[in-house]
Amino acid sequence: MISVIIPTFNEAAVIEETLRRAAAALRSAGEDFELVVVDDASADGTAERVETLALEIPVRVLRRPGRMGLATAVLDGWATARGDVWGVIDADLQHPPETLTALAAAIHQGADLAIGSRYVPGGGTSRWTWVRRFISLAATHMAATVLPLKLAAVGDPMSGLFMIRSSALQDAHLNPLGYKILLEVIAKAHYKNLVEVPYVFQERERGASKLGTRQYAEYLQHLMRLALGTGQFWGWVRYGMVALAGALIDVALFANLVEKWAWAPVAALPVAIEVALLSNYVWSEMITFHGDEASGFRRGYLKRLFRYEWICLPGAALNLSVTMLWILFGGHLLFAAAAGVISGGLFNLAVNIPAIWRTWGRQLPEH
Ligand code: GDD
Ligand code: MN
Repeated sequence: MISVIIPTFNEAAVIEETLRRAAAALRSAGEDFELVVVDDASADGTAERVETLALEIPVRVLRRPGRMGLATAVLDGWATARGDVWGVIDADLQHPPETLTALAAAIHQGADLAIGSRYVPGGGTSRWTWVRRFISLAATHMAATVLPLKLAAVGDPMSGLFMIRSSALQDAHLNPLGYKILLEVIAKAHYKNLVEVPYVFQERERGASKLGTRQYAEYLQHLMRLALGTGQFWGWVRYGMVALAGALIDVALFANLVEKWAWAPVAALPVAIEVALLSNYVWSEMITFHGDEASGFRRGYLKRLFRYEWICLPGAALNLSVTMLWILFGGHLLFAAAAGVISGGLFNLAVNIPAIWRTWGRQLPEH
C-alpha cells in the first residue's frame, strides 16, 4: 500500500482538485493507497474541505497546531502511514499529480527511491525566468558541492515529489530543517536503486508560495547540519588541507624554478601546477577518499588520475592565465602565482567539486 503525504498551509483553493487527481493517478497505477493531508492550522478551511471529501476518496487529515514547517509535516504524516511505500506531493498542483502513476510504477519495478525530477530529460520548469532558473540550479549545485558523495549523483535533490520504500527509512534518524525533506532522505536512507522520473514544475495558479527568506536561510543551515551529520564535513576538512598543500607547492615550486633555475614563467608554471595536481591526487587517494578500506592506492588509480587531471584542466588554465597576466602587468612573481592559484581554486570550488569528488565515485551509493 502507498501512503502519500500532502502537506498543506492555506491551500483550500486547490486541495480538492489535488486530491481528486492524485487519487485518480494512484488508482490508475493499480495500487492500494491512502492520502494523508498534514495541515498546519490553515485559516482558510483547508482541513475541513478535506474532511468533506473523505467520503469519496481514501484521505484523512492530520492537524497540527500551527505552522511548523514542510519537512516535519512530511515526517509526521509518514509516522501515521499504513503503507509500505511512502510518498509526498505538494498540494498546490505545481507537482502534476499524474506523475504519481510513474513514481508508483518505478517503485513497482524495483526502485527503492523514485524521485520526480525537473533536471532529467523530459523534466523542466514551466514559465520560469532565467533568474529563477539560475537560483534553482545554483541551490541544487550548492547541495551537490556540500555533499558531493551523496547528492551529486541525483539530478534534482531538492524535489518535493517522490516515493520511497518505508524499509529504506528504518533507523534513518531523519532530522530535517525547513523545506527540503528529500535532501535528508537521500543522505540518510538505505537504498540501492534510485530512479528519477521527469516532471514539469507547473506555475502556481491559485494560492501563494510559502517560500521566503527564512526558508532560504534554513536551507543553508540544513546543508551544514547534513554535512556534519553524515561525516562529509570531515571529508571536506581533509580535502581542504590537501588543496592548501597543493597551492603552497604550486607557488613555491614556481618561484623556485623561475628565480633559482631561471626558467621562463610560462614554462615553470605548468610544471608547478602538474606537481601540485599530482600531490593533490596522491593525498586524496591515500587520505581523503580511502572510505572504509585501508588507505592507499586501489585498483584503477591511473584511470582516476587522468580523469582528475582532465577535470582540473580549466582551473589550471585559469591559474596560468591569471598568473601570466599578473606578471605581464608588472606584478611580483609570488603575488602573481598566489593570485593564479586562488583563482583556479575558487573556480574549482564554485563549479567543479561534484565532478572532482566523483573521480573517487566508488564511494557513491550504488545507483
Ligand atoms: N503542513 C505544512 N506546513 N505545509 C506547508 C508548510 C508548512 O509549514 N509550508 C509549505 N507547506 C505546503 C504548501 O501548502 C504546499 O502544499 C507545499 O508545502 C509546498 O509549498 P510551496 O510554498 O508551494 O513551495 P514551493 O512551490 O516554493 O516549493 C516547492 O517546490 C520545490 C521545488 O523547487 C516544494 O514542494 C519543494 O519541496 C520543492 O522542492
Ligand atoms: Mn508551490
